[in-house]
Amino acid sequence: MATVRRTARALMYSTRARQVFTVPEYLAPSTIFHQQCSRFHNTGAPTPPHSTQIPANEDAPSSSSTSSEKPQTSKTPSQPFTKAQSDFLSSALRVNQAGELAATLIYTAQTPPIVRAHPHLRPLMKHMYDQEAGHLTYFNSLLAKHRIRPTAMYPVWQVAATALGWGTAIMGREVAMACTEAVETEIGEHYNEQVRVLLDWADKMEARGEGLGEELTQMIGKLRRIRDEELEHLDHAVEHDAKEAKPYEVLTNVIRGGCRTAIWISEKV
Ligand SMILES: [Fe+2]
Ligand SMILES: [Fe+2]
Repeated sequence: MATVRRTARALMYSTRARQVFTVPEYLAPSTIFHQQCSRFHNTGAPTPPHSTQIPANEDAPSSSSTSSEKPQTSKTPSQPFTKAQSDFLSSALRVNQAGELAATLIYTAQTPPIVRAHPHLRPLMKHMYDQEAGHLTYFNSLLAKHRIRPTAMYPVWQVAATALGWGTAIMGREVAMACTEAVETEIGEHYNEQVRVLLDWADKMEARGEGLGEELTQMIGKLRRIRDEELEHLDHAVEHDAKEAKPYEVLTNVIRGGCRTAIWISEKV
């Protein structure tokens, strides 16, 4: 596990590395995955009649996507989830929604002070906010569709995220970027773990001759794309001097610890 985390962390710091080296399947960028993974190659078979479709507008590709990246449906119908799988998905989607809410609020709070001091950063801040808003819309739709309750900590995270965004922004561009680097490092690892679990399910289902189903197949592709966009934010932060923040180590360790705690709590309540 530690090796996997070290590998993921190393990959996060370099977009170029993610493009060049051979990586475990769940770590591969969404653009590589859909070309390599035979499991999701189009079989030509019709969509299972009972499979659940994510409406097109909810799964609309983000600015960096193309139609060729869309995962393909498995040949055979999927089986109902076990209770453990259902519980995992409910917990994971609840955390994801809370995390994306926090991300939108952090960027919302950071943008005015940062743009006032550094007007050239307006397009970057808007770009990152827009992507986070897209992520939040996606998870909002999944929670509503599957009647998953949001975390009970929702109001607390709203206040905490806004305070974190505003507080880091008034400390300067480097601190704001260090905040982004810390948050995106944790959230990138978080999404990597979810993709790893879902691909493990897919392997086991395939071994039993079962299909993954349309919705879960699409969800894996979507999680990969969101994960890649989070890592893109991390790259932007490093490119904009996140590591020049002072005190860098204290800031990033505190923020990362806070993220891990928030994820742990949101999984449970
Ligand atoms: Fe996000
Ligand atoms: Fe992000």
